[in-house]
Amino acid sequence: MIKIAPSILSADFSKLGEQITQTKEAGAEYIHIDVMDGIFVPNISFGAPVYKCIRKTTDQFFDVHLMIVDPMRYIDDFVKAGADGITIHHEACDNQIETLEYIRSKGIKAAISVKPKTDPHVLKAYLPYIDMILIMSVEPGFGGQSFIPSAIESTRIAKKLVDESGYGIDIEVDGGLSAKNVDLVTSVGANVIVAGSAIFGAPDMKKAVSEIRENGDKTYCCKL
Ligand code: DX5
Ligand code: ZN
Repeated sequence: MIKIAPSILSADFSKLGEQITQTKEAGAEYIHIDVMDGIFVPNISFGAPVYKCIRKTTDQFFDVHLMIVDPMRYIDDFVKAGADGITIHHEACDNQIETLEYIRSKGIKAAISVKPKTDPHVLKAYLPYIDMILIMSVEPGFGGQSFIPSAIESTRIAKKLVDESGYGIDIEVDGGLSAKNVDLVTSVGANVIVAGSAIFGAPDMKKAVSEIRENGDKTYCCKL
């Protein structure tokens, strides 16, 4: 079964706890937490103190996506706030492997992300140090953008690299995904699906999660 990671960037922050409970009731295994610093991306979201509060409301996997420069500075804070996995960007620092090893040393999962224009072959160097790859299917910074089709080829290449390596590494895709297009990435190897506006913007959250799962599972390329 694929895993579904609702991105709280599109949630109504006046009732965040309540909305997270709804995603859990809808069957979403993960909560995707987009941290933006206004430097790596042209937008500021929220930091560790915010998700530390919601940690109390759910036992879902906290999938923290750091869109910040030099992420090593904040790993301790994000771990303390309750992250189960932390993703850093290939493009955000020069000490990526050291940072990934540090994340793992804290007993949580480490992941690396590439932006849409980054050659996915750079991922090969990270494979011994990661539990997940995050392929961005929009330019990071904002929710509600359209899916960039080049992410399909990037996902396919990432899946091939993972299969050749023999490591058990998840492949997550993030940006512009919904039940209507999830098959584009599950059919080439994505098994963790981030969706913000398609879930929090839906009139029926439960239906939105179920449809993404149904279409994703039906079209997943490989045995999970
Ligand atoms: C973009 C974020 C995404 C985004 C997804 O920078 O990393 O997680 O919030 O939102 P949708 O699904 O609306 O594209
Ligand atoms: Zn994200």
